[in-house]
Amino acid sequence: MNYRVAVVGATGAVGTVMLAKLRERGFPAREIVPFASERSVGRELEGVGTVQPLSEETIQGFDIAIFSAGATTSGEWAPRFVDAGCVVVDNSSRFRRDEEIPLVVSEVNPHALERHRGLIANPNCSTMQLMVVLKPILDAAGIERLIVSTYQSVSGTGVRAVDELKEQTHAELHGMPLPEPQVYPHPIAFNVLGGAGNFKDGDDYTDEERKMMHETRKILEAPDIGISVTCARVPVISSHSESVNVQTREPIEPDAVRELLRRSPGTEVVDDPARNGYPTARAGAGRDEVLVGRIRRDPSHPRALNMWVVSDNLLKGAATNAVQIAEALHERELVRVPARQAA
Ligand SMILES: NC(=O)c1ccc[n+]([C@@H]2O[C@H](COP(=O)([O-])OP(=O)(O)OC[C@H]3O[C@@H](n4cnc5c(N)ncnc54)[C@H](OP(=O)(O)O)[C@@H]3O)[C@@H](O)[C@H]2O)c1
Repeated sequence: MNYRVAVVGATGAVGTVMLAKLRERGFPAREIVPFASERSVGRELEGVGTVQPLSEETIQGFDIAIFSAGATTSGEWAPRFVDAGCVVVDNSSRFRRDEEIPLVVSEVNPHALERHRGLIANPNCSTMQLMVVLKPILDAAGIERLIVSTYQSVSGTGVRAVDELKEQTHAELHGMPLPEPQVYPHPIAFNVLGGAGNFKDGDDYTDEERKMMHETRKILEAPDIGISVTCARVPVISSHSESVNVQTREPIEPDAVRELLRRSPGTEVVDDPARNGYPTARAGAGRDEVLVGRIRRDPSHPRALNMWVVSDNLLKGAATNAVQIAEALHERELVRVPARQAA
């Protein structure tokens, strides 16, 4: 079976990597068509073709569409692709909270794909890497409570944020006045922003923090896990880093966790403190695997462990998982939109 695939948001940070991943992994596509905003329509993408506009005519005849064009575009266009008979894998936050829509990490809950009705949501990047590491621990010892602090890269906010970091860094290093921040509320160069995401409706947690708390429980199918999150933005281009405190239900030794994670799909253990062996953002960049290290006892609690988790937010955090979902749909013969039940 060879599919006709639409990549919506093909010119963006995630979309660019998505196009490369589809090719690199040899996804069975007979045609890949790039879509983006009116700004990019007509642009030639090397090895892919001309960027198309979203319209009722151009969206016909696809088997799979992978969206990374923001929540507004997904809200407007993903259902139209589904109505046209196409299965949509969506990277935005638009559908993740909908209980009817599967939210899938390929190593963690691929079984949720079986109940899709045309739309599948790809989790938030900072949640994604956490799930790959937590699932084996959940299965082995249960999880009671999580305390997570993130150190998120600017590519998680898109191409404009990467440009903003580079321009501010250049200005700072050359003694020039700092350009006015456009993407973040404060300068990001040589800085750490203690609230990644946006504060909505007077909430004292950011939407990024809320996403991690909600998506973790949905993906792990564990609504009773206690979870507390602080998300920070750091001047790093690729890879999110996370400090994770896991309080399990049953006691489990750090060595046992290391062994579990060595055997688990999608993870690589980098844990040799005597030689400064632990994951770094640079080491995670360009890798599909989630790197985990500094696995150690929390001295303040008999059933808690600390660890450090790093992953490329554009790869496993977005494009790689979306392509893995498409592959799983293909393997399970689920590349079809089920007929709607009469109301
Ligand atoms: N960056 C990450 O690490 C990451 C991880 C997981 C999920 N996501 C999600 O993926 C989505 C894209 O993120 P990104 O970082 O790739 O952003 P980005 O670099 O800003 O790219 C946005 C893409 O969407 C397109 N677009 C914008 N408005 C559009 C419209 N009205 N119609 C059609 N296309 C439109 C843009 O086209 P133009 O080039 O023409 O403007 C561009 O291709 C977001 O929903 C984000 O939350 C991102």
